[in-house]
Amino acid sequence: MINIAVLGYGTVGSGVVEVIERNQEQISRNTGEEVYVKYILDLRDFPGDPYEDRVVHDFRLILEDAAVSVVCETMGGVGPAYQFTKQALAAGKSVCTSNKELVATHGTELLALAAKKRCNYMFEASVGGGIPILRTIQTSLSAERIVAVTGILNGTTNYILSRMETEKADYHEVLKQAQELGYAERNPEADVEGHDTCRKTAILAALATGKAVEAGEIHTEGISGVTLADLEFAAAKGRKVRLLAVAKIQEDGKLSAMVAPFMLSREHALAAVGDVFNAVVITGNMLGDALFYGRGAGKLPTASAVVADVTDCVRNQGRTVMGGWSEEKADMADITEEERRFYVRTNAASAEAVENAFWGKEDRAASEGILSGEEYGFFTPVMKEKDFYEKCRELGDGVLGKMRLM
Ligand code: HSE
Repeated sequence: MINIAVLGYGTVGSGVVEVIERNQEQISRNTGEEVYVKYILDLRDFPGDPYEDRVVHDFRLILEDAAVSVVCETMGGVGPAYQFTKQALAAGKSVCTSNKELVATHGTELLALAAKKRCNYMFEASVGGGIPILRTIQTSLSAERIVAVTGILNGTTNYILSRMETEKADYHEVLKQAQELGYAERNPEADVEGHDTCRKTAILAALATGKAVEAGEIHTEGISGVTLADLEFAAAKGRKVRLLAVAKIQEDGKLSAMVAPFMLSREHALAAVGDVFNAVVITGNMLGDALFYGRGAGKLPTASAVVADVTDCVRNQGRTVMGGWSEEKADMADITEEERRFYVRTNAASAEAVENAFWGKEDRAASEGILSGEEYGFFTPVMKEKDFYEKCRELGDGVLGKMRLM
């Protein structure tokens, strides 16, 4: 029997307990061991809960119990979760987590500590929730040089964009609905400003490059500036607006990474991903594209990924598997040198001048411009990011909205 402890009895923590209870037979068959939840650490008591007797308030009980070999950290945040994880790993206990903020912030140090102590720090649930993507990169795709990872990694923002599109509703209205349904936090900043996607991108990019990636070095834009007019223009052109994580590993080994809303052509594999779903396209140099799709959040899908990590730790006691990434920092590419087409929205009165600034008078017809009420949207020619932003600066208030195309 393997004894485990669950830190944090909230949504994911209680999901971990439920998955272990409901799927004990499969888990035992796959690991050859019964997995037993010996402790649940939480500040609160849970009178009447079937696991009430396992609830403890002092982490030292868990740390000092040699019978506990795996700890599930489902607390979130980087405060106590970081300290408890470090102490557990230092004591040779493997840690499995869904905590993307902690992995993105201290993952490099925690992976090194796990390797030193011959245990494991695993975090499949931290990116894409229940989608098995991190283990896939490290095992099934271990013979690939990964050249790109492109994903929809945040359910909240994908829900908001999908609803704006189908209900023809304004961003603030849909955000409010999402908050009422529990799909968005009361303080939605981490999701809507792209920070959550950025952390997940840093984790994916670190695994793809094998090097440490600082989330703070990833250019990040959210969806709070996306308007219904942008979505309507996209729809008129057969496109979809999605918040994407885009990480590319260049021939020279440099990592180009960004998080931003993109207008996707309808043929793109991610264009059909709606509602709260997540999806990731991994591009390998031998494989080409492979698409992974599923529930990126939610109690049981996320908990299932945490428990899968537990089973891997059980099967690999005394040895570190899936090294994650090294302490060497990834060399970041200058994204302002990248070339692509962009979408621009302006007011009808400025349309000619703004469009001319990007195309010149002769070539304007290629812009695919559309007038909609008082506003005008069009596409630019292929241009460098830095030239596009310079032009937008020069045009000032003439540019009401903009977005990258893919
Ligand atoms: N807020 C996150 C999302 C939760 O919407 O995807 C899962 O990481």
